[in-house]
Amino acid sequence: MTEIPLKPGSKIQISDIVDQAERAVQMVNQVRTRMLAPNASKQAPIFSLTQLASICGTDKGQIAYRITKGDLPSGQLNITGSRREFNLQEVRIWAKSFRSGMLRPKDARAITIAVGNFKGGVSKTTTAMVMAQGLSLRGHRLLLIDADPQASLTTLFGIMPDTEIAECQTIVPLTTGDEKTIRPAIQSTYWDGIDLVAASPTLFSAEFVLPARQMKDPKFQFWDVLNLGLEDIRDEYDVIIIDTPPSLSYVTINAFMAADGLVVPLPPSALDFASSAQFWSLFSDLASNLVESAGLTKTFDFINVLLARVDSSDAASDVVRSWITATYGEKVLPVEIPKTTVTSASSAEFGTVYDISKYDGNLRTYKRARDAYDRVNDLIETSVRMSWASQINEGL
Ligand SMILES: Nc1ncnc2c1ncn2[C@@H]1O[C@H](COP(=O)(O)OP(=O)(O)OP(=O)(O)O)[C@@H](O)[C@H]1O
Ligand SMILES: [Mg+2]
Repeated sequence: MTEIPLKPGSKIQISDIVDQAERAVQMVNQVRTRMLAPNASKQAPIFSLTQLASICGTDKGQIAYRITKGDLPSGQLNITGSRREFNLQEVRIWAKSFRSGMLRPKDARAITIAVGNFKGGVSKTTTAMVMAQGLSLRGHRLLLIDADPQASLTTLFGIMPDTEIAECQTIVPLTTGDEKTIRPAIQSTYWDGIDLVAASPTLFSAEFVLPARQMKDPKFQFWDVLNLGLEDIRDEYDVIIIDTPPSLSYVTINAFMAADGLVVPLPPSALDFASSAQFWSLFSDLASNLVESAGLTKTFDFINVLLARVDSSDAASDVVRSWITATYGEKVLPVEIPKTTVTSASSAEFGTVYDISKYDGNLRTYKRARDAYDRVNDLIETSVRMSWASQINEGL
């Protein structure tokens, strides 16, 4: 065997990494500009009459009849004049009218949901975004909070976190104490009915700032900052969704403590299951210590475990699924999100299944993915409505 001579390579300097980082940011920027052409910002999808009818829970005939009454938006005819189309804003007006019984009661406040799991890549961000889009299509008003310095959720909105987000548009000022309310950080988005509090890498600073404030002032409750920051706006939204990082960070604890409900995406794989066990024990230890030492109680209205990225060709899934149901019982939502090219392909275009107006690939694959996400949103809406009902009961 001939030996290949080993020639030592030159060392990689930090300055090389700096250059490489700049090239990476430029590449993301280029890709994004190409994706978002011609407007350089994301566009909400257009809806057909059939889609509108399905969102309103009625049939096309009813919609056509209501259009003749003239009290709801009539949409526009497409270029060929053969089909009626509706924009997102119009769809939401219809949804609010047809689904008025499902909307937030007058005396109830926003329900806050944290999407979390300490394991990376289990589809937390995708779930947060599709929940917000699905609920807004049902007529609700949403605030999405990106609490992850990776800022993937912010990127899904077609925004470049590094260059387009100022610190004041994130939760950083809440963590430093410069702001008491999240209100100034809120921005509107391309999606009517969803407002965003963005993230950027500067959010890492919270991991130093919060413990430093705690050291200085023993009465300071580092875990209650986000909860208090939301107080001011809880009457203005129906649902607030927080996307969290894949770690038990100071910010993650804030997100969980601010939440009325948790959604935990969990793929049925042995490693993900094992890490979810750590998730619960770490979080419960920490939460009970914090809350008890402050003499408080913390309750959740619901905890929903969502089987996500389920690979039907993976024989091990069935076994792990049975462990998950045995462990989490009725907390497991009765629906599974399949591992699907519809999600991976749309995320390559900085979007989700709900961003697609017309799917180019196999329609059955698209429908399977879309139906699963729709079903999740029906179930989440039920959890939210039950939380509103219990708020009203407690207020009595
Ligand atoms: N059902 C699915 N089928 C196929 N790909 C999926 C599915 N759900 C999510 N993905 C893809 O998996 C990757 C990770 O998803 P996502 O960013 O939502 O996970 P995450 O838990 O938020 O990750 P992180 O821990 O890094 O925050 C993304 O590329 C996403 O498009
Ligand atoms: Mg994420």
